[in-house]
Amino acid sequence: MGDLEGKVALVSGGSKGMGEAIARLFAREGARVVLTARSEADARRVAESIGPSACGMALEVSNRSNWVRVIDAVSERWGRLDILVNSAGVSIGGSIEDTNEENWRLHMATNLDGVYYGCQTALPLMKSSGEPSSIINIASVIASRPMSSLMAYGASKTAMVAMTKSIALHCALNGYAIRANTIHPGGIETPMFEDALVQTGLPREQAYAMWCSAHPMGRIGKPEEVAQAALWLASDASSFTTGGEVTVDGGSAIRH
Ligand SMILES: NC(=O)c1ccc[n+]([C@@H]2O[C@H](COP(=O)([O-])OP(=O)(O)OC[C@H]3O[C@@H](n4cnc5c(N)ncnc54)[C@H](O)[C@@H]3O)[C@@H](O)[C@H]2O)c1
Repeated sequence: MGDLEGKVALVSGGSKGMGEAIARLFAREGARVVLTARSEADARRVAESIGPSACGMALEVSNRSNWVRVIDAVSERWGRLDILVNSAGVSIGGSIEDTNEENWRLHMATNLDGVYYGCQTALPLMKSSGEPSSIINIASVIASRPMSSLMAYGASKTAMVAMTKSIALHCALNGYAIRANTIHPGGIETPMFEDALVQTGLPREQAYAMWCSAHPMGRIGKPEEVAQAALWLASDASSFTTGGEVTVDGGSAIRH
């Protein structure tokens, strides 16, 4: 029997990278998984490759009415939502001197508004079952270790962490059986990481080695390693953990 047997999970950004790895692991552990992506075709393709316990839906996270449509569909189909994973995100380089308004707004709309809309629209359904439920927001090591070249990204992730702690407090103080935590990955091998390598302007091997050296463990992580942390937070094994920050970063948050 899997750790998530009987639970219903929704994963944003589920057609790629960490979101996909999380959706796959959750389904293996017995959850019914609603995997969302901006493109319905992408979401469906990945869901079909997982099997009948997964379904794919279109969701632009920066659009509140998209969230309402998806949550309504989950409510109609299963009548409950036990796990919400906000994995969709964007990361585009830029310091305070070269971050234009468009870059700033894109980070805030996706990484912050998207998580706010997701948590707010999902909460009534998560609350209604009275069963232990879990919100998992994918932040970043950047939330505690700022980089001058990722100003807007870092700001959005740090704010997301503060928002998650506030949600955790609100739920605990009101007696809701809902926990909320953030995962703080370091460099993880996903399409977003590949983009970050390109953004350095260096040859790929050199950029890759540079990123590895920022991690005391000397390597980049795998999406499956993040998925294991998400599984722990999603399952009842983490029943006394809320408002927490789980690092999956090869020690990069504690580097000198
Ligand atoms: N890869 C890393 O090194 C790394 C490190 C720390 C944190 N993170 C965070 O982890 C999360 C997952 O990142 P990943 O590396 O798997 O990235 P990824 O690019 O592989 O996947 C992110 C997904 O989010 C989707 N997305 C982007 N904007 C969206 C929007 N407006 N609406 C709906 N979907 C949208 C993308 O299409 C993509 O499918 C992100 O929040 C990212 O910031 C990544």
